[in-house]
Order: sequence, then structure tokens, then C-alpha cells
Amino acid sequence: GNNAAGLYALTEEHEAIREAVRDIAEREIAPYAAEVDADSRFPVEAQKALTAAGFHATHIPEAYGGEGADAIATCIVIEEVARVDASASLIPAVNKLGSMPVILAGSEDLKQRVLRPIAAGEAMISYGLSEREAGSDAAAMRTRARLDGDSWVLNGTKAWITNSGISEWYTVMAVTDPEKGANGISAFAVHRDDPGFAVGPKERKMGIKGSPTCELYFTDCTIPADRIVGEPGTGFKTALRTLDFTRPTIGAQAVGIAQGALDAAVAYVRERKQFGKAVAEFQGVQFMLADMEMRIEAARHLVYVAAAAGEQGHPDVTRVSASAKAFASDVAMQVTTDAVQLFGGAGYTQDFPVERMMRDAKITQIYEGTNQIQRMVIARSLLR
Ligand code: CAA
Ligand code: FAD
Repeated sequence: GNNAAGLYALTEEHEAIREAVRDIAEREIAPYAAEVDADSRFPVEAQKALTAAGFHATHIPEAYGGEGADAIATCIVIEEVARVDASASLIPAVNKLGSMPVILAGSEDLKQRVLRPIAAGEAMISYGLSEREAGSDAAAMRTRARLDGDSWVLNGTKAWITNSGISEWYTVMAVTDPEKGANGISAFAVHRDDPGFAVGPKERKMGIKGSPTCELYFTDCTIPADRIVGEPGTGFKTALRTLDFTRPTIGAQAVGIAQGALDAAVAYVRERKQFGKAVAEFQGVQFMLADMEMRIEAARHLVYVAAAAGEQGHPDVTRVSASAKAFASDVAMQVTTDAVQLFGGAGYTQDFPVERMMRDAKITQIYEGTNQIQRMVIARSLLR
């Protein structure tokens, strides 16, 4: 089939989650967003508030101490946090990204050990796929892992890893059989206290400045043999299957950023007066708002369809998730750019949040696979 529409309906519980998260976001996260950005510091207030309310990793199944929230609920959490602070929305988003390989492929024992502390809010988890020379072409990674008695020994460097240093756990993909290409890659759960593991300095970024991005160094990093996630050689597929479940969460982040920018623009144009009236009275301004609204609404529906497709094991999940991520992030870039435009000169200053939202929106077109890669995935599915 090539139609994943009709897969979802929002429930009262979804709406209740949205209300609860919006309340926390406005009261406990939004007041710090500008400062978090200006100081490039981790949003500890958001981490505390989300953890206290159980919204830091809602997707973890009840069997491992989690809420067992569905994929749309997780998207709603991320969307509502991103509406006020995109950096903070990477707390629930990357907890899902880092833990999905374990949920999808980990042994029962590994699930208990890794997922429980994350569900409890005692630990966070990151996802290590990319390297400097292997970004879009992720299968070209060079980080190696070899079995040595009862241990795996890892050597190499991962790049661009979100929430590095903050996270206790890291799901790391490494080559175990270099002859076999993508089918010679395995996944591992590495703890930050493991010998031979180190985190590099923070990248100085355009946006999402509250979320640390660093390299990870593995120097004869030695972990117990049972920390492999799934069978040897299945790590790349687990990594890509994970992205089928998490590209919708980046779509949700993009929708949230766009909604935050539209809300700010609507408030501003009603107040701002030129030519003797509120600029909201000019049809040229109204049509911009209308275009922003319709794009966000379309993106939000596609994100929820993709989230539901993952949950329901729909055969087109890879394509629909790629569509949702690419479409929503392109919308976020357009809408935030238009929001800056609607603020005029004020929009270009740090006195208003829209310039931060525009900088934050840009990353959603790049990470979890650039939008060129999403289009490649979509086209492959069409032409297969
Ligand atoms: N699920 C399961 N298996 C899959 C799959 C999927 N979605 N997609 C492909 N596979 C399988 C293929 O069937 C193939 O298996 P066989 O060899 O048995 O046939 C194997 O995986 C390799 O697939 P490809 O031949 O398609 O691999 P490729 O080398 O051409 O790469 C790619 C495919 C789509 C380009 C992939 O490399 C990719 O997605 N690149 C982008 C990387 C990316 O998204 N990185 C995100 C990092 S995380 C991040 O950025 C964090 C953040 O946002 C906070
Ligand atoms: P390149 O692959 O070098 O791409 C350069 C350009 O070429 C892009 O425009 C790209 O679209 C284009 N291009 C490449 N191949 C093709 C093609 N076949 N067809 C058409 N165009 C192509 N990774 C993780 O593993 N974990 C993380 O937590 C993580 N977090 C990140 C956080 C931030 C802030 C950033 C910036 C990156 C993060 N990444 C993470 C890495 C991210 O996924 C990669 O940056 C991304 O996949 C692109 O890889 P690259 O940077 O090497 O770009």
C-alpha cells in the first residue's frame, strides 16, 4: 500500500498531555529559553520540570518502569516543549533516539539495566551513529569493536553527538566485521564511566545552543560482552529502524518551533502600528499568517501519521517518516523566516524570540539525516 493516512485520531488523553506539557513549558521552560541560548547552557530547569512530571522519556514501556506512552503522545510532548525552547525538546527526543535501539533489539537483561534508570529520570541516553567522515553515508563509519575474551573493545571517534556529557548512556554503532559493509556493523550500549571512553569539547553552534554536541572518543574502550545490542552485524539495520521511529519526533520538534514563531508573530502584528493602524490589518500580512498556519497544520498531521505508522508497523513507515521529517523541517524554516519578517527590524534582534527560533529551525533540516537524504529515501521507496 502507499497510503498511510487514516492511521490516527487524537484521543482525550493526547489532548490532556498537550495541556499539561504546555502548562509546564510556559511556566517552567519558556522563562529560561533566551538565557539558555545566550549562555549556551544545558536547560537544567526544563530537565527538572520534565522529569518531575514524567515527560522526559514517556515512550519507555511500562515493563521497564516507563509510562508506555504511544508515539503520538511523545511527539506532542516534544512539540509543546519545542514551541518554547527547541534545545529543551531534545531531552525527550534524544532519550527516545538513544533508547530505541535497546527497545527494538536489546536483550531482556540489557533493557532492564539501561531503560529503567532512564524511565526513572536518573540517567539520559544519546545515540552515536555519525562520524566526521561518515555523516550522510553512515555505513562508511570507521569506529571498530572487536571481541576480546568476555569484552568488546572499541576504538574510534563519533562526531556530533547530542546531549554528550549530560547522558550517562550512549548507543554506539561500530564496525565488527569490516568485510561485510553495512552488515558488519553492530550496536553497543556504552556507559560514560566505562574505561577508555571520553567526551570532547562542545561544538559552537548556530542554534540549539542549550543542547551540547560533542565528539565521543573510544580508546581501547572496554565493555562487557553482554552490552552488544542485538546480534553482531545487525547494528546498522537497528540504527536505521530507530530513525523510522524518531524522524517523526524531529518533525514534531520542527512543528513546535514553527508554532512558537507563528504565535509570537500573531501577537506582534496585532500590537505593532504603522500607517495609523495595526499591521495585522494589512492583507499582505494576513496572507503571510494564513500560509504559515496552513503549512504548520499540514506538517503536524503528517508527523502524527508517521508516528502512528511506526507504532502500527505500517509497511511504508520508512518513507512516511522521511516525508514527515523533511516536510515539517522545511515548514519550520519557512515559517520562522516569515516570523522574523513580520517583526521587521525587531525580529532581527535578540529582544524577541523569533531570531532564535529561526536559528533553531535550521538544524531540523540537517540532523537525523539531511533533507536531501530524506528525499533520497522517499524516491528509493517510490522507484523500488
Ligand atoms: N529499516 C531497516 N533496515 C533498513 C532500513 C530501515 N529503515 N533502511 C535500509 N535498511 C537495510 C537495507 O535493506 C540494507 O539491508 P541489506 O543489505 O540486507 O539489503 C541495509 O539496511 C543497508 O541499507 P542501504 O543499502 O539502503 O544503505 P546505504 O548505505 O545506502 O544508506 C541511508 C542508507 C538512507 C543513506 C542511510 O545511511 C541514512 O539514513 N543516512 C543518513 C544518516 C542519518 O540519518 N543520521 C542521523 C544521525 S542521528 C542525529 O542526527 C541525531 C539527532 O537528530 C539529534
Ligand atoms: P554530509 O554528509 O557531509 O553532507 C554535506 C551535504 O551533502 C549536505 O547538504 C547533504 O545533504 C549533501 N549530500 C550528502 N550525500 C548526498 C546524496 N547522496 N545526495 C544528495 N545530497 C547529498 N549524529 C548522531 O549520530 N547522533 C547525534 O546525536 C547527532 N546530533 C547532531 C546534532 C547536531 C547539532 C548536528 C549538526 C548533527 C548531529 N548529528 C548527530 C549528525 C547529523 O546526523 C549529520 O550532520 C547529518 O546526517 C549530515 O551528515 P554530515 O554533517 O556529514 O553532512
